[in-house]
This record gives sequence, C-alpha cells and structure tokens, in this order.
Amino acid sequence: MKTYLIIITSLMLLACGGGGAGTTTATDSGADTDTGTGTNTGTDTDTGTDTDTGTDTDTGTDTDAGTDTDTGTDTDTDNALDVELRALLTNKLFDPVELTSRELPTPTDPIAELGKELFFSKSLSFGDDVACASCHDPRLAGTDNLSLPVGVGAHNPDVVGPGRRHDGNFYIDPKADFGPNVPRNSPTTFNIAFYDSAMFWDGRIESVMLDYDRYIRLTPKTENGVDTLIRTPDSFASGPDPLAGANLTEAQARFPVTSTTEMRGFASASGGTTHDSRDLLTQRLIDRGWESYFRDAFNDYVSTSEEIVGYPFIAKALSEYQRSQVALDNPFFDYVAGNDDAISESAKRGATKFFSDLQDGGCYKCHTGPHFTDEKDRKSVV
Ligand code: HEC
Ligand code: HEC
Repeated sequence: MKTYLIIITSLMLLACGGGGAGTTTATDSGADTDTGTGTNTGTDTDTGTDTDTGTDTDTGTDTDAGTDTDTGTDTDTDNALDVELRALLTNKLFDPVELTSRELPTPTDPIAELGKELFFSKSLSFGDDVACASCHDPRLAGTDNLSLPVGVGAHNPDVVGPGRRHDGNFYIDPKADFGPNVPRNSPTTFNIAFYDSAMFWDGRIESVMLDYDRYIRLTPKTENGVDTLIRTPDSFASGPDPLAGANLTEAQARFPVTSTTEMRGFASASGGTTHDSRDLLTQRLIDRGWESYFRDAFNDYVSTSEEIVGYPFIAKALSEYQRSQVALDNPFFDYVAGNDDAISESAKRGATKFFSDLQDGGCYKCHTGPHFTDEKDRKSVV
C-alpha cells in the first residue's frame, strides 16, 4: 500500500511539476523564472523513481504484513516481564491500597491550614530565623535539598535550599564554623502519615510496648502509631512519653523547636527544659496575635489562651498539615493497579531486581511495603 502511495505521489508531482513548468514558460517573458524551472528538469531524475514501479514486486511485501504475527511475539516477550514482575508483587503481597485507603486530613481542613501557617512561620524559632519549611520545603519535595541542613544562624534566613549557609557567627551558634550546623540530613515530610513504627533516622520517636520489665518496639504496629504508647527524647527512663500526643507525627512535632541547632538557638532566653521552651513559644504566639486562629481552627472559645495556644495544639496543627502531605499518585502504583504501560521496560526490569531475593538485587528485604521501608535501624559501614 505504502509503496503504491509513493508511486502515485511521485507521478502526481511529475505531472504537476511538468504541467506547471509548461504554463510558466508560456506566460513568463521573465524567463529568469524559467531557469528556475530548469530545476524542474532536475525532477526528471525523479522519473528515476519510475524504477520504483519495479517495486511493484514489493507488493509481494504483503507477505511482510504476515510478519505482523511476529510483532505479536514481541508483545509476548513484554508479557513475560510483566508476568514475572506481577508474580513477584503478588508473592510479596505488595499492595498500595494499604496506603491509599487511609483516612487523612486534606490541606484545606482548618486545623491543617493553621498547621501550614505554623510550618512556614519563623515565629517557632527563638531567633526568628528558621521555620519548619526552612528544612522541609514542599517545593523541594519536603526537604531542603542539602546534604546537611542549616538551621539557626543562617547567613540569609529567607534562603531555602542550595545557597542557605551558616553565617559563622559564634554569638548566634557556638558550634559555628561556616558549614552546616545540623549533623543529619533532612528527611522528607511527604508521606509522613505512613510511618507506623518510628520516626527520625535512629527511630527515637517510637511506638512501644512493655515486655516484662522494659519497653520494646510495638508489634503489631498501628496507622501512624495512633493509640499507642510513644517513646520520645522527653521520655523518663526509656518509657512512654505521656505528652507524646495522638500519633507519631504529633509526637515528632514537639522536638524541632527544642533542638538548639535546628530552631531553638543557643540564647538562654529560649528556656531551660524542653517544656520551658515550648511554653515560651506559646507565649510568643499569644503575644503575636495567633490566639484567634487557634480558636477558629479548633473551634474552641472556652479554653484559656495558654491552653488553646499550648504546645499540644501547636503539635496537632503541625501534624495534621504534614499528614495531609500525601504523594501516592505515581506511575508505579498505576502499574500495580493494572496499567502495563504505566512504566517503561527498563523500569520493569529494575523493579524485578528490586523485588527479587537478595542475590539478584534484593532491595525489598529492607525497603518493604508500599512505603518502601521496614522502619528498622541498620548499622552501615561507609
Ligand atoms: C534545620 C533544619 C530543620 C528544621 C528547621 C526542622 N527540621 Fe524536621 N528534620 C530535620 C532533620 C535533620 C531531621 C532528621 C533528624 C534525625 O533523625 O535525627 C528531621 C526530621 C523530621 C521528621 C521525621 C522524618 C522521618 O522520616 O523520620 C519530621 C516529621 C520533621 N522533621 C518535621 C519537622 C517540623 C514539624 C519542624 C518544625 C517544627 C521541623 N521538622 C523543623 C531538619 C529540620
Ligand atoms: C540491608 C538493608 C538494605 C538493603 C538490602 C537496601 N537498602 Fe537502601 N537503604 C537502607 C537504609 C538503612 C537506608 C537509609 C540509610 C541512610 O541514609 O542512612 C537506605 C537508603 C536508601 C535510599 C535513599 C532513601 C532516601 O530517602 O534518601 C535509596 C534510594 C535506597 N536505599 C535504594 C536501595 C536500593 C535500590 C537497594 C537494592 C539495590 C537497596 N536500597 C537495598 C537499607 C537497605
């Protein structure tokens, strides 16, 4: 068919070209243009295409169309990879629905909106120079895009991401050496609602249970550690922290403001204990007119100012906002849901390695579940 079309088109070109050339020569005394028509003569070479007519034999290529069946075999090869990968996923009980079915706050819920404002506010740092978003910017996928973060004492506190650096001022930070002043990388806050056992690189916010005379990690875990005993850095004798709050995210939100390098700073005015620091922040927020926002968000017009702007409510608001940062709409989950074309062939090969057992790659041993983590700590040698 294709061949025919080419022939017909060439013939038409020849016809038009030839005819056109004829007419032009007739009218134009401006024979100059005619010289242009000379080029048309070049088209004569096209006549060589006539030889293509020999391609008529190509019509025999119709048999090639038969080769289409081969293409069918190609698809079979694709299927083999899909079959292998899907078998692995079934075998490992990989199921994103475990995450997508969770009930979580949306960013427009009043409490989450208050949390967002707090998350972006430098009022939670005693030097007015750091916000949660300085290290967990949603525009940088919930991180700061730095190897190590710069918290208090940034040269320009408004800069977030690459370019945020410490100003080296020893009065602001006795540890200042112009480098980053926080010793660990900022993990993303995205999908934080799917951590069910522990938070922080070393899991020091953790759901626990009593095992004879000591607390160990809780099994089975609950969604985001809701309704569990939670151990935190404020815990007494490694027991649960009675003030931890409703879930792991809430428990975590109590600590960045008490870390000297992250948000608290080194000034003595930032309080003695972690509890003192939080109470001072409550006072600051009241002084800065936040009270009515808290009352409206929590629909509470009876508690005292200190109660409604108290840290439990600050932590709850921060937690609800972060728990609304859900990012589950991704091509791999579409593939798992049944769309074979959602990811590329090479991604499928990579996934097959990822989910197969250790000697073949074996990442899933540690990066388990649809959130890709077993939430356990591991010693690594670098
Ligand atoms: C100066 C940078 C910085 C600031 C500011 C900061 N964080 Fe972080 N955040 C970190 C680092 C670093 C870690 C990991 C610390 C660790 O594991 O010891 C972390 C951990 C977390 C985690 C746990 C993530 C996980 O995967 O375990 C959450 C949630 C979080 N921060 C929320 C907040 C909130 C809420 C605020 C504001 C109240 C805040 N952060 C302020 C740097 C920062
Ligand atoms: C023995 C357990 C284990 C195995 C097996 C493993 N990982 Fe990891 N992986 C970890 C731990 C623990 C971390 C966090 C380490 C850290 O940054 O301190 C990590 C971190 C990562 C990160 C960075 C994640 C982030 O949020 O920054 C990626 C990406 C990753 N692993 C991919 C892989 C791949 C791909 C494989 C297989 C080839 C693999 N891992 C095998 C334990 C493992």
